[in-house]
Amino acid sequence: MSCAFDPANIIVTGGCGFIGSNFVRHVVESHPGVCLTVLDKLTYAGSPESLAGLPEGRVRLVVGDVCDVELLERIVPGHDAIVHFAAESHNDNSIVDPDPFIRTNVEGTFRLLEVVRRHGLRYHHVSTDEVYGDLALDEPRRFRPEDPYRPSSPYSSTKASSDLLVRAWVRTYGICATISNCSNNYGPYQHVEKFIPRQVTNIICGVRPKLYGDGRNVRDWIHTEDHSRAVWDILTRGRQGETYLIGADGERSNLDVLQTILERMGRPLDAFDWVRDRPGHDRRYAIDPSKLREELGWKPIHTSFSEGIDRTITWYRDNEWWWRPMKAATEARYGRQGK
Ligand code: NAD
Ligand code: DAU
Repeated sequence: MSCAFDPANIIVTGGCGFIGSNFVRHVVESHPGVCLTVLDKLTYAGSPESLAGLPEGRVRLVVGDVCDVELLERIVPGHDAIVHFAAESHNDNSIVDPDPFIRTNVEGTFRLLEVVRRHGLRYHHVSTDEVYGDLALDEPRRFRPEDPYRPSSPYSSTKASSDLLVRAWVRTYGICATISNCSNNYGPYQHVEKFIPRQVTNIICGVRPKLYGDGRNVRDWIHTEDHSRAVWDILTRGRQGETYLIGADGERSNLDVLQTILERMGRPLDAFDWVRDRPGHDRRYAIDPSKLREELGWKPIHTSFSEGIDRTITWYRDNEWWWRPMKAATEARYGRQGK
């Protein structure tokens, strides 16, 4: 059954984070009739500055926790949809302290599903390809929506749990919901703890980039704007209860990504440090996006990785005001982990 509808007032959870803020910007620019209420707790990963310059008449920020039921009940009336990005999102942090991951990712999703059930809103759940575990480097297979869940890390197991809650609420209570599982995003406004911005900002700061393990782990990169376009297509035209995988055929080893950055920033290709590996480090992710492409006609527009990386490097060079305040604390956290 189609969930097709024309949203007018959307709650975007986690809209001050990387992907959420890019989604808000995308909707403001591409869908003029839509107003957005961002619900964000402003954890270490949330920056209200990521929404700078957006029209106040169309984007409202509510600072609060997705686990706060009273707050949810207060803000939901007048809205027709929730797009749920808010999460604790970093694997390395989940290994050090899983606690906030259980609370925000699992309990937070439960609270939202209950409010959706009570008020009859459309719900879109933003998730990750990591729920499917990992693939061997030489395996021809890529992830498909019907694959079994095999998460490896505390982070991915909480995302898998939240996806399963959504599936159960669809089947048992008939809520109108969809799920998307996307591969690794890159682009502007990404926290400097993540791989690409960490290396770019290290180089800007005169610090050597850090590569985990043997550097052969593969991630399937997609520009965050292509992710936003896919979420919009699924929200407005996706089929009720369905799961869509979002990926842009962007498989690359970490070593290859790092050397692309080094080359584009004019550094020698060996100007980085090997550091200890992440425990349980997933080897490879790869998305088969054919369902999204065939059913909804989505395709990526950012098809040149080196151009996307160039633009991302330029953004970090031009926007030091945005990332400088979080850089020292992030590197201190990594330092304590020997990374
Ligand atoms: P992020 O860490 O950059 O942002 C998360 C945002 O959620 C922050 O603004 C933070 O303040 C907010 N938040 C955290 N806990 C909250 C709570 N309890 N209540 C309200 N707000 C809270 O994350 P991201 O990389 O933008 O990821 C967004 C979503 O996309 C997550 O659900 C993540 O699992 C998923 N995802 C991320 C990627 C990726 O490559 N980054 C890929 C696929 C899926
Ligand atoms: O696949 C989607 C997932 O992608 C999302 O669900 C997560 O929220 C998002 O953080 C991302 O997870 P990863 O663990 O793949 O991303 P991260 O940027 O932390 O690391 C990417 C790869 O780079 C991974 O193999 C670990 C490696 N790495 C990371 C850092 C920070 C390094 O080699 N050096 C580093 O300094």
